[in-house]
Amino acid sequence: MIDPFGRTVKGLRVSLTQRCNLKCVYCHHEGEGGGSSEMTLDEVLRMMRVAKSVGVRRVKYTGGEPLLRLDLAEIIGGTVAMGMDDVAITTNGTLLKQRAHALWDAGLRRINVSLPSVRPCVYASLTKGALAEVFSGIKIAKDLGIDVKINAVIMKDINDDEVDELLGYARGIGGALQLIELEDLNLDAEFFRRHYFDLSGVESRLSAMADRVETRGEMNNRKRYLIGSLTVEVVRPANSAHFCANCTRLRVTSDGRLKPCLMRSDNLIDALGPMRSGCSDSDIRRLFEEASKLREPYYRQAS
Ligand code: 5AD
Repeated sequence: MIDPFGRTVKGLRVSLTQRCNLKCVYCHHEGEGGGSSEMTLDEVLRMMRVAKSVGVRRVKYTGGEPLLRLDLAEIIGGTVAMGMDDVAITTNGTLLKQRAHALWDAGLRRINVSLPSVRPCVYASLTKGALAEVFSGIKIAKDLGIDVKINAVIMKDINDDEVDELLGYARGIGGALQLIELEDLNLDAEFFRRHYFDLSGVESRLSAMADRVETRGEMNNRKRYLIGSLTVEVVRPANSAHFCANCTRLRVTSDGRLKPCLMRSDNLIDALGPMRSGCSDSDIRRLFEEASKLREPYYRQAS
């Protein structure tokens, strides 16, 4: 599936639920509103099978908190079994301690953990969660052999002084680190104005520290800084034509709608409704193709 801007859809980001056991002040809710129904296990897997038939190779399950889905291991197992190249999740890590084993057995080999702070008080005030739970979950996942990437949204006067601690933590657990600029989506305007933090200064510092810098073609051409054994990425989507020009993903909302862009809510295509009314796989395939045609870069080069 190639969109009108020459970008191929290679990956899906699939929200499995909007439910979450944390309350992060900065959460953009994956650009979703208040959808109610959730796709069942069979519906998710059917959609993934069709996606694979139109060229999708990577699936990232997200939420809400995907571990609140008690059938997550079956969803992962089913997706791995259909031969996707990459199946991963984004989780807040609080429930990993109990569930990592089953997820490993299902074939999960890679997770992103949302961890905006390694200071217990800051973590609690940002998320209402307990940092110790997340730390022990991450340790268990790592010990099983799961690759862990830490996702840290960096915010002014909250955790912008914590970048070095986050680097140290990620290095210590043998994980990777992704520093993310705050995106103005589903957020209180005042919160964004106060706490947006430009990561260009951090990026130049990483450049100076790095032994090597690579560019990740498939992932918005973002840079990857290799500092000793640690890999660090910086995600700066806001106002970035470059970021959008290299986007290869399509989203699926928890209620089964194909979402061409994180930032937009006006061009979704319902696939769950048709599935529940008995449509065929080729009907679903057409919906994917239609959604791909609706993909357009949100930020573009000024002409
Ligand atoms: N801006 C940027 N990134 C965000 N995330 C959540 N809310 C925001 C926001 N407002 C990131 C978190 C999480 C991932 C799913 O999205 O880091 O790991």
